[in-house]
Parts: sequence; C-alpha cells; structure tokens
Amino acid sequence: MTEATQPVPQRSDPPKTVVLEGLHKSFGEQHVLRGIDLSIAQGELVAIVGNSGSGKTVLLHCIIAHIKPESGRALVADVTQPGLPLYDVAALDDDALDRLRLHWAIVFQRNALFTGTVYDNIALGPHELRGDTREDILPRAREALKAVGLDPDQVLDRARDDRSGGMAKRVAIARALVLDPAMIFYDEPTAGLDPEHSALVHDLIRSTHERPTSERITRTSVVVTHDTGLLARLQPRVVMIHEGRVFFDGAFEEFARSDSAPIRPYFEAMAAVHACVRESRVPVRAGRRR
Ligand SMILES: Nc1ncnc2c1ncn2[C@@H]1O[C@H](COP(=O)(O)OP(=O)(O)OP(=O)(O)O)[C@@H](O)[C@H]1O
Ligand SMILES: [Mg+2]
Repeated sequence: MTEATQPVPQRSDPPKTVVLEGLHKSFGEQHVLRGIDLSIAQGELVAIVGNSGSGKTVLLHCIIAHIKPESGRALVADVTQPGLPLYDVAALDDDALDRLRLHWAIVFQRNALFTGTVYDNIALGPHELRGDTREDILPRAREALKAVGLDPDQVLDRARDDRSGGMAKRVAIARALVLDPAMIFYDEPTAGLDPEHSALVHDLIRSTHERPTSERITRTSVVVTHDTGLLARLQPRVVMIHEGRVFFDGAFEEFARSDSAPIRPYFEAMAAVHACVRESRVPVRAGRRR
C-alpha cells in the first residue's frame, strides 16, 4: 500500500463520511473548483446548491471518484470498518474502490439508465456488485418501484422509457434504493418531476435517510438540487458553491433568510432554475475516471 492509499484515521464524533480538502478541478481554461473544503458527518442530510454551472455535479463526481481533482483530496469513509477510516478515493485501485462503492448509491443527473427493461436496470447493481439472485432482488425492486409511485406490474418488464423524463428519474431513484446504501448521492432527484411526484420523492429522501441500512449503518445523504420545495420540506444543512468555493454552509432557515448578494438573487431564482435545469456534461458511466 502506498502512502496515498493508507487510510486516514479519525476521532470525530459522529465520524465523518466525506472530507474534501482543498479540491481544485479545471477543464481547459475553466477553473471550476477553486479550493473546496467540506466535511460531512455520518447521518447528515446535506443539500448542495449553487448556480447552474457552478460545479455541483463536478464536486459530486470528485467524491464518487468519477473525476480526479488536480489537487486536494476527496476522502470517503469505509463505513464497515471500526472507526470509519477515510480513504483518498482518487488514490485507490479499482478493487479497493469497489469495496467502498458497495455501500454507495448514486442518482445521476441524467439518470444513467441503459438499454434494457426497468428490472434489468434496477437489478444490475445488486447482481453485479453483490451477486444477489433474481429471487433476492425482485421483491426489493417491486418495493422500490412502489416507493417512487410506479406500479411494478406495469413497468418491471417494460423497456425503460427515455421519452418520459419523470419515469426515468423515478426508475433511477428506485435503482439506488434497492442497493440499501449507507451513503446516497442524489444529483437533481426531482428535475423533470411534476409537483406530486416531487413531493413523493422529497418524503422518500427523508424516510430513506432516517432508516438505517439492513446492516444497521446510519445513512448519509447528499442531495444536489435547485428545488426550493425539497429544501423547505427537508430543512437540510445547505452548502452553496459559488465561484468555485463553499460560499455558505449552514441551516436552511439561515440560507433562506440571508441577504447576502450571491444568495438572495440565487434563492429567489431557484424555482425558475429548477424548472429548466440543463443536463450535466459530466460522463455518467460507472467506474470511469477523468
Ligand atoms: N467533462 C467536461 N468537460 C468540460 N467542461 C465541463 C465538463 N464537465 C463539466 N464542465 C464544466 O464545468 C462547469 C461546472 O459543471 P457542473 O456540471 O458541475 O455544473 P452544475 O453546478 O452541476 O450545473 P447544473 O446546475 O446546471 O447541473 C460547467 O461550466 C461545465 O460546462
Ligand atoms: Mg449538475
């Protein structure tokens, strides 16, 4: 094991599950992340907000090791080990990363569904990562589809439908839920949903967050969003990214009340931005690092 792949012990209580230290990421001349420092404790529900193009998806992709930062570190805890040691995800080999990934689920901004039926999409993770059989997966898939407001009898064997953004988003959420993850990352989970299904997803994010995993691990949830309804309902810790750094980090109530120049106009425009959030340009294939 090289020095970079050695775990970083921690003594915080509650322990941290994500620690970002001085993250920088550029694309050509565009310096997107300019020194992001952020810690998320186990059991926290954190919303990451910021203008379109501010780097929220890039930040999330640094945490899940799809993007390698130029400098700084994204440390993520192994929630199965005593003391939750932290690992620099960019320094891990694929096997070590897969061991951490077993406990994560990601709802991608562009859903990242592949050709195949709804069942195929939902079953891929549990089958490939954990070797679960169809008999194990089917009841969980049915339960997860019901939780997102889809009728399993209607949709399980249907090809996933790209034309309906709302359905694809809900299948993407169901796919994350069946993994029963200790850490769940949502990138714009309610984009494209009508108000009724958005409210259902808000409640689902909360209920999933509050329920420990089947291995009794306390969940951590990170939600990238422009949805003020979601913030108002879940009242999470809010982290705002602005000009490549963490500009605000505090309670939703304080965020909503803030008169600060970048926050006020952003907050007031949030609902409109949510209605037309553009698609992320970050590649979505699992395991690909850039
Ligand atoms: N693969 C890439 N190649 C080049 N530029 C990229 C790439 N991925 C992201 N960017 C650029 O980095 C900036 C931040 O992108 P990112 O997708 O993180 O924004 P965002 O905050 O998630 O925006 P939105 O709210 O619209 O989803 C944007 O200007 C984007 O064009
Ligand atoms: Mg984005």
